Amino acid sequence: MFVLIPPAVAEKVKLDPSNWGLEEGKECVSCHKKSSAALTHEWQNSAHAEAGVNCLDCHLADQVDNDAIEHEGAIIATIVSPKDCGRCHVKEFKETEGSVHAKALSMIKNRLPALADNLSGKEMVAAGCAQCHGSEVVVRGDGTLTPETWPNTGIGRINPDGSLGSCSACHGRHSFSKAQARDPSACTWCHTGSDSPDDEVYASSKHGMLYEANRSKMNLDSDQWVLGKDYSAAPTCVTCHMGTTPGVKGSHDVGMRDAWSLNRPVSEQQYLVIFDDGDRRELPDSQPAPRRGSELSKLDGSMGKVKAVASPKRRRQIMTKVCLECHGKNFVNSYMKQFDNLVKLYNDKFGKPAQAIMSALYEKQLLTPAPFDEPIEFSFWRLWHDEGTAARHGAAMMSPNYASWEGMHKVAQNFYGEFLPQLRQLAGEETANELIEMHVTSQDQHSWLNNPGKPNPILGYGIGKESHE
Ligand code: HEC
Ligand code: HEC
Ligand code: HEC
Ligand code: HEC
Ligand code: HEC
Ligand code: HEC
Ligand code: HEC
Ligand code: HEC
Repeated sequence: MFVLIPPAVAEKVKLDPSNWGLEEGKECVSCHKKSSAALTHEWQNSAHAEAGVNCLDCHLADQVDNDAIEHEGAIIATIVSPKDCGRCHVKEFKETEGSVHAKALSMIKNRLPALADNLSGKEMVAAGCAQCHGSEVVVRGDGTLTPETWPNTGIGRINPDGSLGSCSACHGRHSFSKAQARDPSACTWCHTGSDSPDDEVYASSKHGMLYEANRSKMNLDSDQWVLGKDYSAAPTCVTCHMGTTPGVKGSHDVGMRDAWSLNRPVSEQQYLVIFDDGDRRELPDSQPAPRRGSELSKLDGSMGKVKAVASPKRRRQIMTKVCLECHGKNFVNSYMKQFDNLVKLYNDKFGKPAQAIMSALYEKQLLTPAPFDEPIEFSFWRLWHDEGTAARHGAAMMSPNYASWEGMHKVAQNFYGEFLPQLRQLAGEETANELIEMHVTSQDQHSWLNNPGKPNPILGYGIGKESHE
């Protein structure tokens, strides 16, 4: 049974001013006005200051908290975790905590040694990976935080109180503004580069173009920000992935409207499984849909009871509803078809054959089990991770340049020009031909390789014989 997402998260509780305005907090302000004037100024101009929420209301800690420190006569913690914010913002806390964002560290933890430590080192993890993904923050005996694991505001940071992520990943402190978080830059400082080239993709899409030209019409400061009511000039990351559209509830769970897993060697469409306690996980639709009420393992290995399941189709419908505020149905459905077709092309023509060949090489022990000590392993990684991700994100988000030149074109260049030649070198003539015949040239899409005699149009481009006939 498929139900509408989002799950039943407690509606925004009425914020009750009797919960804040701690008297001792006023001393923090008067001293920090001098010791860190700009920080305090940001707070003074914020919705929090206006409502009377002061430094201590957020930084207050319990003596028993392992990161509690004594500071100018008060017990405080430097980290104000999502759980701390959740004291007042229940809805945002719950949505964030169950989302893929919160899992950004735990999900890659077992991949870190191969990807990060072997290739580079712990220093790079702290200055690089952890700044986006988060760290597991380590507290010393005296309550202070180790420089190896803090500072960072990574999206899946494991906090000393066990809560996940960091609200100031998107809401820069100490203004904690929603207007600022609606700007694409709140996302693109992380969503850039080969893991997730969305900054580049969006900037080279018509949507990004229109955002740039119409920024002043975007009404980012509006109290509510409903597409079609409060703005209409261009969609931003937030519009499509988290924002409110008539008929689509806004949510801090950014992954809900995505049907595909676009960052894998082979993409799959995915169910979104929602557990009793609000936790969520994705499951490829090549597996049977879990039933409501059944037990299923969560990402952390513990068991949970399935409360609801959203099919890939349902997730796509919700995303599409956003587009329909600005476009017609045929236009949107046909574009989505172009996108899905590109993902399938990538999968069938390159992703699956390359993955099958790599598996065979490991099986035949032509490669060592270590992941990055042979050239073909880097070619494979680049093919699906860098180039394949660029292609799929480009097609998902309307960047023709990333779908083709930065994406599929590079995938193909790599596959034909590096991956297959490396395979030949590594496996020897006979085994290589066998594998290529089985996974590559037996497919229609690669059959052109069997016809080397066809006229070669490249020659017309000035390579070799100069001729334009
Ligand atoms: C008498 C001045 C003074 C008062 C009162 C004061 N602070 Fe500070 N605070 C400082 C100074 C100076 C620093 C920087 C210390 C340093 O860098 O070693 C600091 C550092 C901090 C830090 C960073 C701690 C870290 O991890 O390094 C936090 C958080 C903080 N203050 C919050 C507060 C809060 C909350 C209050 C009110 C309960 C408060 N401060 C009261 C002067 C003050
Ligand atoms: C709405 C909650 C909130 C309020 C109000 C607040 N802070 Fe913070 N503060 C945070 C968060 C979140 C962090 C980031 C800690 C982290 O996740 O690493 C932080 C970090 C800090 C830090 C250390 C990080 C740095 O950049 O050096 C200091 C110092 C600090 N706050 C001081 C203050 C002072 C002084 C006030 C009052 C003028 C104040 N805070 C009010 C939430 C708050
Ligand atoms: C600039 C921010 C940033 C940095 C730095 C970064 N990542 Fe990522 N990473 C991301 C984002 C954003 C995604 C999400 C991709 C998506 O879902 O589209 C991601 C996804 C991943 C994935 C998942 C790929 C998949 O299968 O979906 C892994 C593994 C990963 N990163 C590992 C690392 C490691 C290891 C490092 C350090 C060497 C690192 N990342 C550095 C932002 C970053
Ligand atoms: C991925 C980025 C991101 C993260 C992380 C994030 N927020 Fe937000 N937040 C936003 C955006 C964007 C908006 C504005 C949404 C809109 O208006 O459609 C927003 C709006 C809000 C609002 C205003 C809600 C309203 O209806 O007026 C609150 C309160 C809030 N966030 C709290 C939090 C808390 C608490 C956390 C951490 C548990 C958090 N946010 C983490 C991006 C984020
Ligand atoms: C003690 C209660 C309390 C805590 C703790 C708290 N907030 Fe708030 N927050 C408020 C109140 C009150 C408002 C203003 C009323 C409103 O906008 O609903 C507010 C407003 C906001 C807004 C909307 C700002 C805007 O531009 O309109 C954001 C975003 C936000 N908080 C994020 C956070 C984050 C992130 C944390 C933790 C670092 C946090 N809050 C901690 C009470 C709190
Ligand atoms: C601090 C870094 C950071 C920021 C800021 C950030 N993200 Fe992410 N985002 C990530 C990482 C890392 C992942 C990968 C998480 C995983 O795979 O578990 C991710 C995953 C995603 C996904 C993929 C969900 C899926 O279906 O797999 C979407 C969509 C997304 N983010 C949208 C946004 C939007 C929109 C914003 C801004 C409002 C934003 N992100 C801000 C780091 C960030
Ligand atoms: C016009 C709507 C739109 C805008 C604007 C947009 N996206 Fe997307 N995004 C999509 C669609 C559609 C997909 C593919 C969803 C699917 O898997 O079906 C997608 C996919 C993604 C993914 C990969 C998730 C997956 O399926 O694996 C990430 C990460 C992401 N977007 C982040 C961003 C960021 C960051 C921005 C802003 C720079 C942004 N998006 C702007 C519509 C949009
Ligand atoms: C806020 C309104 C808005 C939203 C939401 C929106 N778009 Fe657009 N989109 C536009 C505008 C305006 C253009 C530029 C039209 C033009 O002048 O060519 C555009 C351009 C495009 C283009 C480029 C091709 C062309 O003919 O211009 C595609 C493809 C597209 N949108 C698909 C989508 C899809 C799919 C979604 C939902 C995931 C979506 N859009 C969401 C307003 C929007």
